[in-house]
Amino acid sequence: MREPGAAAVPEFTREKRLRTRSANGTLALGEMLTELLRAPKLVLLRGDLGAGKTTLVKGIVSSLGAAEPDDVASPTFTLVHEYNGRKLTVYHLDLYRLENDSQLEALGISEMLDRQDALLLVEWGERFPSLVARADAEVTITMGENETERLLMVRWRD
Ligand SMILES: Nc1ncnc2c1ncn2[C@@H]1O[C@H](COP(=O)(O)OP(=O)(O)OP(=O)(O)O)[C@@H](O)[C@H]1O
Ligand SMILES: [Mg+2]
Repeated sequence: MREPGAAAVPEFTREKRLRTRSANGTLALGEMLTELLRAPKLVLLRGDLGAGKTTLVKGIVSSLGAAEPDDVASPTFTLVHEYNGRKLTVYHLDLYRLENDSQLEALGISEMLDRQDALLLVEWGERFPSLVARADAEVTITMGENETERLLMVRWRD
């Protein structure tokens, strides 16, 4: 049960489980997600270090015509990378090193979320309740039975 007074986070109503056996397979699933999720604004990418979150972003960004997969690198130190696609601007964020909401604000998160033509793909965003509350979809990547197998759970609302 929720604490009294806690903000209600709308539940995800749809769920899809996917499996990939290679980094290229994850790239392809990124393209598929672009079809599956209709006009999401904020997608949280969850999973341990090296799970494949950035690899998935490469697939999504390339399917939107915003950059080639090889030109998408982890925003580990810059925290945010921007790619201009045919219809959308994609912001890829890695919040691993961020500690609080004011740092998130300083990054310009509100302006990004306010843009009508923006898609935000966020790694390590689940640590920020303000982002969890606004997420349109969540992809959780876990390790499979061997080095290159990954299990993806996609949750979203219709
Ligand atoms: N099926 C797979 N899907 C994705 N990556 C895979 C797969 N199999 C092996 N890999 C490798 O795992 C690594 C995933 O790295 P990636 O940078 O995408 O992870 P990440 O989740 O973004 O990590 P971090 O939290 O450190 O940013 C890459 O080296 C990739 O080649
Ligand atoms: Mg990453």
